[in-house]
Amino acid sequence: MTAVDRCSDKTRAWVCEAVRIIEADANRSADTHLLPFPLPVDWNVQLYLKDESTHPTGSLKHRLARSLFLYALCNGWITEGTPVIEASSGSTAVSEAYFARMLGLPFIAVMPRTTSPEKVQLIEHQGGRCHFVDEPGMIYTESYRLAGELGGHFMDQFTHAERATDWRGNNNIAESIFGQMSLEPNPEPLWVVVGAGTGGTSATIGRYVRYRAFSSRLAVVDPENSVFFDAWRDTEPGLTGCRGSRIEGIGRPRVEPSFLGQVIDRMIKVPDAASIATIRRVAPLLGRRVGGSTGTNLWGAFQIVAELKAAGVAGSIVTLLCDGGERYSHTYYDDAWLTAQGIDLAPHDQVLTTFLERGEWTA
Ligand SMILES: Cc1ncc(COP(=O)(O)O)c(C=O)c1O
Repeated sequence: MTAVDRCSDKTRAWVCEAVRIIEADANRSADTHLLPFPLPVDWNVQLYLKDESTHPTGSLKHRLARSLFLYALCNGWITEGTPVIEASSGSTAVSEAYFARMLGLPFIAVMPRTTSPEKVQLIEHQGGRCHFVDEPGMIYTESYRLAGELGGHFMDQFTHAERATDWRGNNNIAESIFGQMSLEPNPEPLWVVVGAGTGGTSATIGRYVRYRAFSSRLAVVDPENSVFFDAWRDTEPGLTGCRGSRIEGIGRPRVEPSFLGQVIDRMIKVPDAASIATIRRVAPLLGRRVGGSTGTNLWGAFQIVAELKAAGVAGSIVTLLCDGGERYSHTYYDDAWLTAQGIDLAPHDQVLTTFLERGEWTA
């Protein structure tokens, strides 16, 4: 598209209408719930789950996808008919496909061939096309190549998540959490516990608590086969290595541009078996299944609950329910898959039993 076309009245009108359509979607949507997690009252520590699975596209990535589209539209990167390409392990692609269809744009998700069939179906159900790579690390270069070949736009969540999201407000996830905590016994949580894929969610929360002068601290959990923990601990932003994470949506083989280590107060490494043992254990307590990254979040949150209880400190903790478990019936909820992965839940199950019964942490 030439510069003249880009600035034509017709193009500008299309962009303004596209923005209106996305804002109308937000206007039709209710905010997600903040759910108390059932812990004994006499522990004097309250734990809450921010349930992002109730977004129209089923995960926390609905907020990010909306911000990325508005950012790309208002930057002039997307105009009428522009193919949109994204490098995603799934959740982001599901949400971006939803907005692309709303704007009548072709959408292609570039992802590892190992991505769960459920997520592939969800993307196709939203009208997107899936493009597979064998090497998880190839998703970036392949996305650029496809964008070049098709004259499209690579949305690049890993680079733009932290800058496309309005971290000062505009109902970002942090503003929503603190607003919904305001009438609770301990409205300013001592800790907010989240995972990192792009790092956009943790960056938004870390910035927001500083911007609003809250005393809350940010803890980020990291699964196996991810470089975030080591990179943060050793202040090595260039660290790479590791094959992809088994906990979909979080953990990365490189430190992503949207990962902001400086706003993170603590990181916790969580074994994959612990994440999966946790989601299986809490399903009956929550009355439903949740995704793997929620298990990683809860394992970290439980550890901090036990520390506060042991120290006799009263307060609250908030963590995220990132997506529903229906997307993982062929993986985390499948015993054969666990065996094939060599994952033993028993030792972590014991830790959860001791914690849920006595509030002590034995990991
Ligand atoms: C299910 C799930 N949980 C957590 C995250 C992490 O969020 P962020 O990319 O904001 O770090 C993702 C990211 O893709 C995800 O898909």
